[in-house]
Amino acid sequence: MASNSQAPAAARKYEKLEGKVAVITGGASGIGACTARLFVKHGASVVIADIQDELGASLCAELGPGASSYVHCDVTNEDDVAGAVDHAVAKFGKLDIMFNNAGIGGAPCFSIRESTKEDFERVLAVNLVGPFLGTKHAARVMVPARRGCIISTSSLASAVGGAAPHAYASSKRGLVGFTENAAGELGRHGIRVNCVAPAGVATPLARAATGMDLADESLEAIMEAAANLKGVGLKVDDIAAAVLFLASDDARYVSGQNLLVDGGVSVVNSTFGFFRD
Ligand SMILES: NC(=O)c1ccc[n+]([C@@H]2O[C@H](COP(=O)([O-])OP(=O)(O)OC[C@H]3O[C@@H](n4cnc5c(N)ncnc54)[C@H](O)[C@@H]3O)[C@@H](O)[C@H]2O)c1
Repeated sequence: MASNSQAPAAARKYEKLEGKVAVITGGASGIGACTARLFVKHGASVVIADIQDELGASLCAELGPGASSYVHCDVTNEDDVAGAVDHAVAKFGKLDIMFNNAGIGGAPCFSIRESTKEDFERVLAVNLVGPFLGTKHAARVMVPARRGCIISTSSLASAVGGAAPHAYASSKRGLVGFTENAAGELGRHGIRVNCVAPAGVATPLARAATGMDLADESLEAIMEAAANLKGVGLKVDDIAAAVLFLASDDARYVSGQNLLVDGGVSVVNSTFGFFRD
């Protein structure tokens, strides 16, 4: 259904991506899976591109074959990424939204002396080369169409030091730099390029990052203790909602941004301790 300002509010609620086609890397789990569900709810068709084949296939079974499709895609492999984009065009006719979301935390190591070159390179390969390849192949089909929207998942670690291991922080800061550059090039073709930057949210990646086998509730309690905004608690749905905003026409003039979904923690130095009740 086309957007219609005369439609009643209830009818307008879920139509932000009507008829749009999206590829979501890392779409089988966590933020990617939650975003896939929200995109489909808003009328999009989604290609889930991941290396967790069973999880990806079961998500597509839940979303329905008419609205979703799974493709095996290792984002460090250019043929796989090109194949995921081509799959979207072959199955759904076009590509409107590329969500470069696949990522790994890398070794939970905060010591530069104990960090390894192998881990550093692996994290950069998935978290930075992956979005580079996703953006390159999305642009291949979006530039001729003269429209499109590319979003990558960066992190709170892209904005403040000390929030993640060296490899992860480097990959996410690099991703913001790449995003700004890509926005610069692709704007002339009507393509917007942005990042969403989550603070810590309970997913398998975040669990692995602690190096401990924590339940979601324990992980959320640790994050709540470190949060600036109290009494709210960040959920994957909050990140998906920010991605939906960036993907939709609500953000039609937003490009080159790194949208932090962090309750303000990146801009407040709480060690000053001036704000008290
Ligand atoms: N959870 C957090 O606290 C948090 C915070 C900031 C940023 N992020 C970012 O969010 C994104 C999604 O992570 P998540 O938290 O939902 O974790 P997750 O582990 O639930 O999801 C990550 C997904 O990426 C996939 N993946 C990993 N390597 C891949 C590869 N080489 N090719 C294709 N897919 C691959 C995994 O199979 C998984 O489905 C990541 O980029 C991550 O860095 C997460």
